[in-house]
Formats: sequence, structure tokens, C-alpha cells
Amino acid sequence: MCGIVGYIGKRRAQDVLLSGLSKLEYRGYDSAGVAILHEGAFQLEKSVGRLSVLADRLEVDPLAGSQGIGHTRWATHGRPSDANAHPHADCSSAFVVVHNGIIENYLELRDDLMARGHQFASETDTEAVAHLLEEHWTGDLMETVLRALRDIRGAYALGIMAAAEPGKMIAVRKHSPLVIGIGEGENFIASDIPAVLEYTRNVYILEEGELAVVTAAGVSCFTLEGVPVDYKPFRVTWDAVAAEKGGYAHFMKKEIHEQPKAVRDTLSGRLLDDGTRIDLPELGWSEAMALDIDRIHIVACGTSYHAGLVGKVAIETLARIPVDVEIASEYRYRNPIVTDRTLILVISQSGETADTLAALRGARARGNRVLAITNVVGSSVAREADDVIVTWAGPEISVASTKAYTTQLVALYLFAAYVAKLRGAVDPQALLTLAHELTEIPEKLEELLDTAPVIEEIAREFSAWSDAFFLGRGLDYAVALEGALKYKEISYIHAEAYPAGELKHGTLALIVEGVPVVAMVTQDDVYEKSLSNIKEVKARDAHVLALAWAGDTQTHKSVDRVLYVPRTIPFLAPLMLIVPLQLLAYYASVARGNDVDKPRNLAKSVTVE
Ligand code: G6P
Repeated sequence: MCGIVGYIGKRRAQDVLLSGLSKLEYRGYDSAGVAILHEGAFQLEKSVGRLSVLADRLEVDPLAGSQGIGHTRWATHGRPSDANAHPHADCSSAFVVVHNGIIENYLELRDDLMARGHQFASETDTEAVAHLLEEHWTGDLMETVLRALRDIRGAYALGIMAAAEPGKMIAVRKHSPLVIGIGEGENFIASDIPAVLEYTRNVYILEEGELAVVTAAGVSCFTLEGVPVDYKPFRVTWDAVAAEKGGYAHFMKKEIHEQPKAVRDTLSGRLLDDGTRIDLPELGWSEAMALDIDRIHIVACGTSYHAGLVGKVAIETLARIPVDVEIASEYRYRNPIVTDRTLILVISQSGETADTLAALRGARARGNRVLAITNVVGSSVAREADDVIVTWAGPEISVASTKAYTTQLVALYLFAAYVAKLRGAVDPQALLTLAHELTEIPEKLEELLDTAPVIEEIAREFSAWSDAFFLGRGLDYAVALEGALKYKEISYIHAEAYPAGELKHGTLALIVEGVPVVAMVTQDDVYEKSLSNIKEVKARDAHVLALAWAGDTQTHKSVDRVLYVPRTIPFLAPLMLIVPLQLLAYYASVARGNDVDKPRNLAKSVTVE
């Protein structure tokens, strides 16, 4: 985790670094720091807390200099503190380093370096890199970095400067993302593209195991053996404002409201305009390939895992292929039963989640075909998978995932239909209905978003309670899990999702008078059963909010309130239900005065185990 930036050019470095870091806070935000080279010496400013603390300090005491590196941290080794904040320096402050990742053998390195007389100022794994540079110094920065890297095991994206080589910055990537922004007479490094977009649209994403030497005049890339490599920058076409809040109070709110567009964009080119055909041209599979699949393992973390649970139902229903959904951090350490015909489907918004990436690599090492659903085109997951379906949600900044989930669902429905058609597993009429219903989803989402004021009022009432329960059966249960996750992660209220039929085996004991329960009743085949379960909690005086289809005439008789969602086929209900659940979580968080976009202890992109 963590975000890194670097700048070299003519501008005041601190401004560029702070602006870049503000776009990377989603990667971690428990401390921040910058190191700026001025008149042959490094000036370091670091502080625990949000980036604003550092910015305030720098406003009072600005740092001169037009070359620097900066960092926003999500603690892994060493608690959040001024001393543990990056950048880190060696004993003589000849080198400064910012790092994203984990140096696995740092304890060994640290002991060894201390035995050689190096003094450590922090508890971090990163500081060992600075001292290693001091130890290996040959008089040439690139050569020194390459030597030091030979001693290091682990994952890293590094930004490095040496006082003895002003005008130069080194960037290295191994298992952690890093991009180079290419300007005119100035260049940038960053963990992610939005950090440089204010200054340049020409970007190069460093490849695994590449090192870049960056000066104001140019960028040269090398392998970790020091062999020069050609690189081709590309032009970022999406708008910088897309990564800004655009008038909304929080990124999360903006991203919730962007869902109609995100869904439309994700469907675009995959549904014929007349809404009659579903295709995934980027896959280009043959019938034989689709028929060959004997089983699918969906592997993901967090919200992406919850999308996978819906994906299982979609694929099994349409394509009749058995699907297992697995949490990546569990899957990677198991010895899963697969054949060479098993397809591994990884889902990752960022495409950089360490556990998901490790599961992908394990699957490929076993010889399995890997299909990835991701939101980030140049991400590691996208680059290492055999096939990729991109969700066109655009940059998602808020830690709590919203539009990425909805577009993952769309991608999964499309994939289920695509494989089902190739395998001849589904009635063509059913696919026509599905295609037609999908085209109508964006408009229905817009309609649903108009209910925000009602949900705000309910959320205010619910947020006074320390618990909330989310109930449903079938697909309603799959969405309940995501609803409960949204609620707990940003409101800090205990939230639990339960299959409604399982309540009486334990959770019912927690139902007391007034406790908020959100019950979903969109699955026609279990409609009566779901209503009976609602009656069970109502009989214990819970306060029940039901989410039901517009036109439902029964549910209101058994609950305190009903929120009606525009009707689509029950199969697509998750695409509708998730919106009120996201809004409920959002407004509960606001009501509690929480930092909605940056919930405590969490980070957007978990690039460490
Ligand atoms: C973190 C984020 C979640 C996300 C999960 C998986 O926990 O806070 O929003 O769902 O990581 O991330 P990925 O990028 O792999 O989807």
C-alpha cells in the first residue's frame, strides 16, 4: 500500500508533490512526507496524520527546490508516526527513498546493516533500502541501486534520489505499480496516473522489474540487469476532472451517482444498439473453448468477492457451469482441485490487490487459463491474465467501492451470457430478454438515485443504533452481504448480512425492539418465504425497511417502511438493490460525522498481504 510521487523540473517541487499526493491518498493516509533536494542537501518534512497536516506545515515553512519525492503511507511495518513516515534517509542523508510494498528480508538486512554501524531512525522495512544504498555506493546512482536491489527480497515500487547526483531520480518497480509522467522539461513518477494528470497526459507504466532514470530532460528505462529497454508512453484520454469530486461532498457520493454512466459505458460495444445481442469482442472465444470449461473458480477480495457471489448465480443459471467463489487470501494458500479445463476468473477493481494477484499467478503456474475483470487497464492483473474484461467505471477514489461493484456485476452478467451462448446452454429468447433489460438499467438507476433524500432520512434514524441486519434469500442475500460491508466500513456500525432462512439458527437472538433490519424481497421464487422471515423479525419488534419491486402489493403489510425499486427481471435485481444500500451506508456515515471517503484503518488498494 502507500502512494509515491516524484518530480523533477522547474516548478516548486513541494507544490507538485502535495498535489500528486492528494490524488493518491486513497492508497493510504496515516502519514505523509516529502524530501526536496536544494543546494546539494535534502530537506525532509514528514508528519503523522492526514496529508493536510503536512501541507499546513509546508505552507508555514515552504521548502525551496525543484526536485523531490513524496509519500502517503498506510502502515505495514511500524506504527504511523513522524519517524516512520517516508521518505527515509541513510545515516549521512546522502540518499532518500520512498517505497510502496514490503521488503520481506528487512529484519535480516537491518541486523546486518546495524552490525556494520548503520543507525536506524525508524521501525520501517523501507529504511533498510536507504542504508543499503549508502553501503553499496559506487559513485553512480543507477549502478548503486541495481547492486542494492540484489540484496532485497519482496515487493516494491521505489523512488530514490542521491544528494551527490542532483538532477536525477530513480524509479523501480517490482510487484507494486509505478507510472512515469512525461512532461516538457519536467518529469514525474507516481503510483497511479491521476497524480500526474494535472501536469501531463503522456504516461508510461513501468513494467515488472524495470528501472527508470528520470531527469528534467528525459527518461531512460532499464531492466534490473541494467540493460536499456525501449518504452512507449501512451496518452491518457480520460479527463482529469473525472478524478476530482466534481461538486459532490464526497467521492463516494459522486461515484454512486456516476453509476448510470458507468453501467452504460461498460455495456457499450458489448450490447448491440438495438439491445438484441450480447458480445464480448475482446475475448473472441470459440465455441470449443467455451465448451471445454469444466468449472470456474472466481477469486477476489472485499467488494469484488461479493460481485463474484452474484457472478456465480449468473454463470450457473445461464451457462450451467459449476462455479466456486473464493476469497483470494484463502485461495492462494490452498491446493485447489482444478483440472486443465478449469477457468480462473479473478475480479479486482484496482488490479493490484496482492492476494488476488498471487492467486492469479498461482493459477497460471498450474497451467490454468485466467480471465480478469478489472477497472484498471494497465494494472498488474490486467497485464498478467490471459483474457481481460475491463469495467469502464472510470477512476474510483473513495475507499468504499460502489461503481466498480455495479460494473463488475454488469461484466459478470455479460460474461455469463457470452459463455452460455457459445455453449448453446440457453434459450435465445432468454438472452434477448436479458439484453433488453440490461439496456434499461442505466435509466432505472437514474430513477432510483432520486430516492436519495428518503434514504438520507432513514439513515439518520438507523445511525443511532449500534447494529444493523441485512436479510435476503438467493441473489438478495448476495447483495445483502455487500450492503452490510458498505454499512460497516464507513459508518463503523456493526452490520451483519444473513440468509433470511438461516435466521432462526442463531441471529434471531440478536433481534431486539427497534433494531434496524433491511430486508430484500425481489426474488419471485422465494418471495413468500422471504415475507415469512420478515415476519419473524417483525414479531421481535425489529424496525424493518424492505426493498421491494415497484408495484409490490404485499410487502408493506409486514414491515415499517418499503423502498420501491424500479422493476427489472429478478436475475438483475442486484444492480438495483445495491444503490439504496450504498446510499444508506453513505448517509449513515455522514450522520455519524465520519470521514466517508477515508474510513479508519482501511485503504483503497491493498497491495500487501
Ligand atoms: C479494499 C478496498 C475494497 C475492495 C478490496 C478489493 O479492501 O477498500 O473496496 O473491494 O480492497 O480490491 P480490488 O481492487 O481487488 O477490487
